[in-house]
Amino acid sequence: MQHYFIDKPHKSTDFFVFTDSVIGYELCFRSCDSIFSKNKIDDGTRALLEAISNTQTLSGKGLDIGCGLGVVGIALIKKFGVFMDMIDINNTAVSLTKENLIKNNVQHSANAFYSDGFENVKENYDFIVTNPPIKTGKKLLFSLMDGAKEHLKDGAPLILVIRKDHGMESLKNYLIKIFGNAEILDRNKGYYILKSIKK
Ligand SMILES: C[S@@+](CC[C@H](N)C(=O)[O-])C[C@H]1O[C@@H](n2cnc3c(N)ncnc32)[C@H](O)[C@@H]1O
Repeated sequence: MQHYFIDKPHKSTDFFVFTDSVIGYELCFRSCDSIFSKNKIDDGTRALLEAISNTQTLSGKGLDIGCGLGVVGIALIKKFGVFMDMIDINNTAVSLTKENLIKNNVQHSANAFYSDGFENVKENYDFIVTNPPIKTGKKLLFSLMDGAKEHLKDGAPLILVIRKDHGMESLKNYLIKIFGNAEILDRNKGYYILKSIKK
């Protein structure tokens, strides 16, 4: 089975542009077939952004793990004026995120770069956000949680979305194990938004 994060060679005809709105911003994305949620903003991503927009005040520099087309980082820059590092294991996703930062006029507020998990992540952040990869299994998911804890400043939050039927309870229990806390910020059509703070 081919996972959405596997790079494959592309022809110029594989690429297209779509627009979609989230948290009050109309955003424009260049996309292609092999990318997660290729022609609209994913429902889980939307739930994550709405919950953050309605309940949080973010500032400083954040990290988006698994940026895909760049939806999460771009929307958060628009909303909060933050700076974002945006990482993905898929080089096409990284290239498209770079293009989409420019398309949405926020290229001076972000760095997008290839990283398999935290391998190329050097900094500690004021917040980390993610609609994490699930299809790759619990081992990777939990290792991303470990990395997030390591790369957060003291007092900084990790905020993520996961479907209840994709292992929400076990992820929440793992967050409690490593962070000592996990709060359900919101739930929306089966999507749960979880927040843990590095103490
Ligand atoms: C559920 S998608 C979310 C994409 C995007 N943030 C969004 O909300 O539309 C998860 C993303 O994680 C990326 N990913 C998978 N494994 C990864 C890894 N080991 N390190 C970094 N990114 C990874 C995938 O390529 C994919 O773009």
